[in-house]
Parts: sequence; structure tokens; C-alpha cells
Amino acid sequence: MPDPITDLARDLAARFPKAPARTLARRLVEEANGAITLEQARGRMRGQFGVCGAKNRKRQKPSVPRAPRRAGVVYTMPPTKAEAWTPYDMGIVGTIGVLSDIHVPYHSEIALGAAVEDLKSSGIDALVLNGDTVDFYAISRWTKNPKHRNFRGELEQIRQLVAWLRQEFPSIPIVFKTGNHEERWAHWLWAHAPEISDEPEMGLSAWLYLDRHDITLVDNQRPILAGKLPILHGHEKGKGISSPVNQARGAFMRLHHTVLEGHGHRTSGHCEPDMWGSEVFCWSTGCLCDLRPEYARLNKWNHGFAAVTVDADGGFDVSNQRVTADGRVRSS
Ligand SMILES: [Fe+2]
Ligand SMILES: [Fe+2]
Repeated sequence: MPDPITDLARDLAARFPKAPARTLARRLVEEANGAITLEQARGRMRGQFGVCGAKNRKRQKPSVPRAPRRAGVVYTMPPTKAEAWTPYDMGIVGTIGVLSDIHVPYHSEIALGAAVEDLKSSGIDALVLNGDTVDFYAISRWTKNPKHRNFRGELEQIRQLVAWLRQEFPSIPIVFKTGNHEERWAHWLWAHAPEISDEPEMGLSAWLYLDRHDITLVDNQRPILAGKLPILHGHEKGKGISSPVNQARGAFMRLHHTVLEGHGHRTSGHCEPDMWGSEVFCWSTGCLCDLRPEYARLNKWNHGFAAVTVDADGGFDVSNQRVTADGRVRSS
């Protein structure tokens, strides 16, 4: 004889196969308009799941069989909020120019001009602006000289630099990777306009006119891959042993992996073989900014840039160049 309450129980079990039997029993009592007690409803639901004892299971075939489990609330793992962090692959076979630490509007006209001329004359297939391309002095959290605090003027010079670079390299992919100085923009927005800080119109692509010049923004501290060579700005490693005597060795000590990075404003290299003779090589590139800024008149910085030639199999060769005070490009 058809039993409408069993039909209701079967339907509930099919719709909510993972819900606790007690929860569904309460729902069954409701849907049956109180025609059965809570204990009877629980028995019906347990019958549908086949968790009502071996003897009963023979009598009533479960519609949604499941293994017996602890009564009451069943906890599941909370969903993660962690976001995927993946490298940005240039996908280039050929030569990639790497310009780090330009710090516009505190760039060195001589060094930047020499680096761009050199890359233009040797011919490159892509260009990476490897972080601290802009200084964002006016929105830094450090104490600022009011004489230099002109964010509008700074922004105009950044846009001019971006337009000039696109003009000099009109038909190759250009990637703009954010360094610690570009991160000042997000930090400033979070402090001053948090409600609209994640609007696309508030992002660096729009504000620096990268989108207008078809320049790709790579943010979130993502490494860039030039073949098998990861390129970092350098601040991604965090603080600690990141300012050693030899920056490239510091990178090796931290990463134990071949890498090319900027951030330290110094040209250096470090090669270390493992026990089987497989070499790990780390490079740091010089900067292209003023070498005597107000906040660090005496330092150990030097001007430089790099060109990375990538083979079809991902193998690469790094040419880590220096630029002399009078604008001559020298190998390191
Ligand atoms: Fe820098
Ligand atoms: Fe930096």
C-alpha cells in the first residue's frame, strides 16, 4: 500500500543526502503536518539512509545508502580563502630586456637612456619593467619633504615615461611588474578610499595608462618566467637576509633556485653547484634611478639592466650589464 510519509522521507533523503537524519526528521514532521512524532520521523529517515541496524535494513531497502556516522551536527572543512599564486610566463623565445628600479621621476636620464638605446640597437622581442618603475614618493608612508610632495606632477611624469617606452618599443610585448614602490598605490588607496580601492578604474593599469599603451600589468608579487628563468623584483622574499654583501648570494641563500632580481640597485652574480654539479645561478641587476637620493646619499648602488635570451627549450642566457657614469654600457 502506498505510504505518502515514506514518499516524503524518500524525497527528503534524495534532496539532502548529506544532511543529518535528525534535521531531516524535523522537516518530515513539518511536511507531514504532524501526522508522525519526531522519533518516528527519525526512524523513517534512518531507514532511507540504511543506518537503522542490520535487522531493519533487511526489512526496508535504503533509497540513499550511506555509512553510519556520529549523531548530531556534522562539521565539514571550512572553504579556503587562499588565492592561487602562479608565475606569469612571458611565452617568448628570443631576447627579453629587463629594466629595474627606474623610480621615475627620480630616474637617471643618462642610465635609462643608455639602457634603452642598447636594447633598441641589439634588438629585443619583449621588455620587462621589473618593479620600482615608479617612485610614488608623494604617497609613501615615510616622512616627506613637502617641496617634493606633488603627486599630480609625479603621475604626469609616470604617464610620460610609459608613453615614451611604448614609442621606443612600438611592437613588442611590454610587461610592467609591480615592486614595493608600486605597492604604495594599493596601500594608499586602502587607507584613503577603501570602499572603491578594488574598482578596476582605481588600479595601476588605468591610472598609469598602461592599458592605453597595451602594457600588461603583473601584480600580486607574481614571478615572471623568461623560459625557465624566474624574474623577481626582489621584495617578494620579504625582509631578513635580503641585503647581504652580495645580493645574488642572498637570493641564493633564500631561494636555492636560479633567479634574476632587482630591488637592491646593485649588479651581482652568484653561482653554486649542487653535489652532482648542477649549477644554480642568481643575478641581481643594477638600477636606473638617481644614485644620490636625499634619503640615501651614500650607498653602494650602481646603474645597470639585463637582456635575457631564451631558447626554444626554455634554456636561457643572461647578459647582466652595467652603465657607467657617462652612459657607456659595460658587461659585468
Ligand atoms: Fe628600487
Ligand atoms: Fe624595490
